[in-house]
Amino acid sequence: MALDSNCVVGVVGAGAMGSGIAQVAAVAGHRVVLADVSEGAVAKAKANISRNVERDVEKGRYSDANAVLARIDFHSAPLGADLSPYESCDLVIEAVVEDLGVKQTLFRRLEAVVSPEAVLATNTSSLSVASIASACDVSDRVVGLHFFNPAPVMPLVEVIPWLGGRAGLGDETRDLMRQWQKTPVLTSDTPGFIVNRIARPFYGESIRILEEGIADSATIDWAMKQLGKFRMGPFELMDFIGNDVNYAVTRSVFEAFFYDPRYKPSLTQRRLVEAGFLGKKSGRGYYDYRDGATKPSAAQDPALGRSIFERVLAMLINEAADAVFLKVASPEDIDLAMTKGVNYPKGLLAWANEIGVDCVLGWLTSLQAEYGEDRYRPSPLLRRMARDGRRFFE
Ligand SMILES: NC(=O)c1ccc[n+]([C@@H]2O[C@H](COP(=O)([O-])OP(=O)(O)OC[C@H]3O[C@@H](n4cnc5c(N)ncnc54)[C@H](O)[C@@H]3O)[C@@H](O)[C@H]2O)c1
Repeated sequence: MALDSNCVVGVVGAGAMGSGIAQVAAVAGHRVVLADVSEGAVAKAKANISRNVERDVEKGRYSDANAVLARIDFHSAPLGADLSPYESCDLVIEAVVEDLGVKQTLFRRLEAVVSPEAVLATNTSSLSVASIASACDVSDRVVGLHFFNPAPVMPLVEVIPWLGGRAGLGDETRDLMRQWQKTPVLTSDTPGFIVNRIARPFYGESIRILEEGIADSATIDWAMKQLGKFRMGPFELMDFIGNDVNYAVTRSVFEAFFYDPRYKPSLTQRRLVEAGFLGKKSGRGYYDYRDGATKPSAAQDPALGRSIFERVLAMLINEAADAVFLKVASPEDIDLAMTKGVNYPKGLLAWANEIGVDCVLGWLTSLQAEYGEDRYRPSPLLRRMARDGRRFFE
């Protein structure tokens, strides 16, 4: 069966992501099967989805909350060996814990109940789609579908065909995501996909600037917001995401890239995690969120701010250009991903055009000359484009 508006969608795992994805599919008109090994997780998902769809109806987004809820078949019984609720599904999206063994076992067991044509998708953030697909007998029906949190709110979905996937599956899945009113982008099955790869320097280079004592976190946050128009500064954002979560992503990308120094995690972040300074959720991170604490003020020095902003932006543009160079995604999808997935004020490649590719290359070569570190190596694509006077999107 084709992936169209009539297909039945299964979601495995009713946690933060699974419940959001089930809601999106039901709002798009699909019959949905949602189950979890934890009865508590299913009860919570049911309550959250009800609240969300009622709020959507109040806001006039659609008219019938009950109809949306009635389309979701919740299974609160622990699944054990029984995955039969998914029998009728044409597409099953897994959103269970980020553990390769658990995901592989689940896919193997799902294959025993779904039809041979059913598509199996994974919402993994950090595992390769290939490693999950390899557990299946009919592995060419597997695809990555990486939603962002919260799934009903965030428009971006990274669609990840893998090297053994059947031709056209990526495009079919992307079309379905458009029907779900999402903004899908196609990406290769490489570490961090688009967003979690390209966003690394926003955090890593900012921490490096802090470690060198060039500026404190408040000043770096100020520079990125004031001059770059980012909605949150890097330190505010890391404290919001959780330093443990952000550190885990950085580590996983670094390891998956065979320890490329460009993605090296920082000791500063590791110490914060070790100390339990996880950010807002623990009361302390880069900033102090405890009662009575005051936020430090930024040194609003325009020249200092500009040097910070240009250094971080140069590193971000370099990552984006290198992702184009290595065919991770198209320039259009890379700019869409960063604006729709992490709310960057502009696409990084469009930004490079605005500043001038040769100017960005100049910033990077100065950094590389000064530090002599491979971390600052400019992408060959930037060098070629500057040499040939080319711009992105031409
Ligand atoms: N949280 C995010 O920001 C985010 C964003 C994108 C992708 N992801 C990915 O989505 C997946 C789920 O993440 P989450 O944040 O929703 O986690 P979560 O902990 O909120 O939910 C996971 C759920 O899976 C259930 N589960 C575990 N094993 C199961 C099994 N065998 N069968 C059925 N249910 C099972 C758990 O009971 C839990 O309710 C992970 O792969 C994660 O990497 C998370």
